[in-house]
Amino acid sequence: MEKIIQKANLNVQFVQRYVTSWVISIGSLAKRIAIAIAEAVILTCVAVYYFAETIILTFTPGFLRNEKSVRGKVVLVTGGAGGVGQELVLRLARQDAKVVVWDINEKALEGVRERAKDEGHIIYTFAVDITSRDTVYKFAEKVKDAVGPVDILINNAGIVCGQTLLELPDYMIEKSFQVNVISNYWTVKAFLPDMLSRRSGHIVTVSSLTGLMGTYKCVDYSATKFATVGFHESLLLELKTHGHHFIKMTIVCPYFINTGMFDGCKPKAMPMYEPKDVAKRIITAIKRREVFVTIPNWARFATPLKYYIPAKLNWVLLYRVIKAPQSMMGMRSFKKTEKVEAA
Ligand SMILES: NC(=O)c1ccc[n+]([C@@H]2O[C@H](COP(=O)([O-])OP(=O)(O)OC[C@H]3O[C@@H](n4cnc5c(N)ncnc54)[C@H](O)[C@@H]3O)[C@@H](O)[C@H]2O)c1
Repeated sequence: MEKIIQKANLNVQFVQRYVTSWVISIGSLAKRIAIAIAEAVILTCVAVYYFAETIILTFTPGFLRNEKSVRGKVVLVTGGAGGVGQELVLRLARQDAKVVVWDINEKALEGVRERAKDEGHIIYTFAVDITSRDTVYKFAEKVKDAVGPVDILINNAGIVCGQTLLELPDYMIEKSFQVNVISNYWTVKAFLPDMLSRRSGHIVTVSSLTGLMGTYKCVDYSATKFATVGFHESLLLELKTHGHHFIKMTIVCPYFINTGMFDGCKPKAMPMYEPKDVAKRIITAIKRREVFVTIPNWARFATPLKYYIPAKLNWVLLYRVIKAPQSMMGMRSFKKTEKVEAA
């Protein structure tokens, strides 16, 4: 009899445990479903909010937009003696920013300093080869001592060779990567720690539409510009993940600009932009804390199309409609350009 009672007890315990575990798993399943529904609702609300914000801001006239001022801010522009850089420097100086210019071309530096002086502005110019890591770190300290911590860093310097892969000398491929992308690591490492400790700062990368879509005679240049997009996106994610939402980041991808960099090219799709218009757009993007900017604006919708159409059709469109390779065919070789040789 005792054995039967013991067995019955065991059976009861087993059933209790079985039922309890079922109740617990049904409970935790219900909890998980409730959390998933809550997360889906929150995500939908966030998505609707951000889409609505983007649409409203797109159609809000400039004078109604909340734009930050650059007045009194220390802004460092690399390649600031060149085409777009010089326009950036002068426009920022006119808006009372404390502008620091880094460029390898001393003669051009003198030119931009004189132009600023003629307009009644003092700018701080330094002859810096941004491909030299030690030089970047050394001059970063000099800037902090002479002008103060940098609020806005504009990585603008760049070079292009304009040759096909087999024509490109090996050292120029390396140089393109050093100037166009690797230097960004040194400049950001030099100035980001101060931005973090001051809980404020803005990092701007001047990339290119060729950083979103490869093109002819640009196997080196385009790859460096794609790399800047990866640099920008990954650093942005890293900063946000670490809670540094106060550091702003902007990447700008322009079409051809009439600075001499792409001399000999004959763009078929539309005419080249003037450097002053590109500089103006970059400054607006900084003031509006825009994250991703293409020039023209519509290119941000057009360039991703390549992922959604057959690759063969992409080639046909590039060759027959946009005529991208034909635009680049007349491009001068870097050997003929003093500016690039100097760099
Ligand atoms: N010109 C275009 O069609 C075009 C199109 C898209 C993007 N971009 C990008 O815009 C930016 C500005 O281009 P730009 O047209 O004004 O070119 P630019 O040649 O007129 O100016 C570039 C400046 O960078 C400087 N520089 C080069 N190597 C350097 C180094 N090692 N250290 C310091 N300074 C150095 C040069 O001396 C020059 O003053 C570049 O990043 C370029 O890739 C240009």
